Amino acid sequence: MKKITVAIDGYSSCGKSTVAKDLAREVGYVYVDSGAMYRCVTLFCQQKNLITDGKVEEVKLRSLLPQVKIEFRKNAEGKADAYLNGENVESEIRSLKVSSQVSIVAALPFVREALVALQQEMGKAKGVVMDGRDIGTTVFPDAELKIFMTADPEVRAQRRYLELKEKGQEEPFEAILENVKQRDYIDEHREVSPLRKADDAVVLDNGNITREEQKEFILNLFKQRTGA
Ligand code: DC
Repeated sequence: MKKITVAIDGYSSCGKSTVAKDLAREVGYVYVDSGAMYRCVTLFCQQKNLITDGKVEEVKLRSLLPQVKIEFRKNAEGKADAYLNGENVESEIRSLKVSSQVSIVAALPFVREALVALQQEMGKAKGVVMDGRDIGTTVFPDAELKIFMTADPEVRAQRRYLELKEKGQEEPFEAILENVKQRDYIDEHREVSPLRKADDAVVLDNGNITREEQKEFILNLFKQRTGA
């Protein structure tokens, strides 16, 4: 069966990673969480105190960026954890502290340039499912299957709330909803690679469907595109 590239883009907390992981597992592809890479750079900025009053010290970050090493390593459960300079940061990068500053870091053109190059390298052999905001538009404009996911902000905030609670990081629902809306706005309005649906992407609104239904929906599209 021919190998393809699957690009899954959409709003934050839409369940992109659930869809992407389910599909990758089902068809034996590699899953790459591009958002985790922007989160790692954000955590690095926080570790080095490069963000003050919502502004990043760009000159410093630019000079330090070559020192940022991002990897994904499989854990005991077979899931890929994000590593920043050799340290497992999988849990830390999902905190509200990182979430609240990641959009400003992801809006920096030189950060995007570096991470897009890394993502293209990771996916060059195809057989990859990558999720993010600009995968179908910028990283892999020739991807054979592009999905654009969406759902109401309240639904997404509720999901994030439960996700954080499960990890023992309970935060007020209102703060999470505010963060979701704020990130939508910044993601859609940034100058470089703003979040938008690629013309040839299939829209999936998963506010009212089950995980099984969405899995089947995507798997059918995958079969069509691979000719399986
Ligand atoms: O998917 P996520 O919520 O983990 O992504 C974290 C942030 O990174 C999100 O606010 C937007 C940004 N991002 C991006 O700009 N481009 C990507 N390809 C992936 C994520």
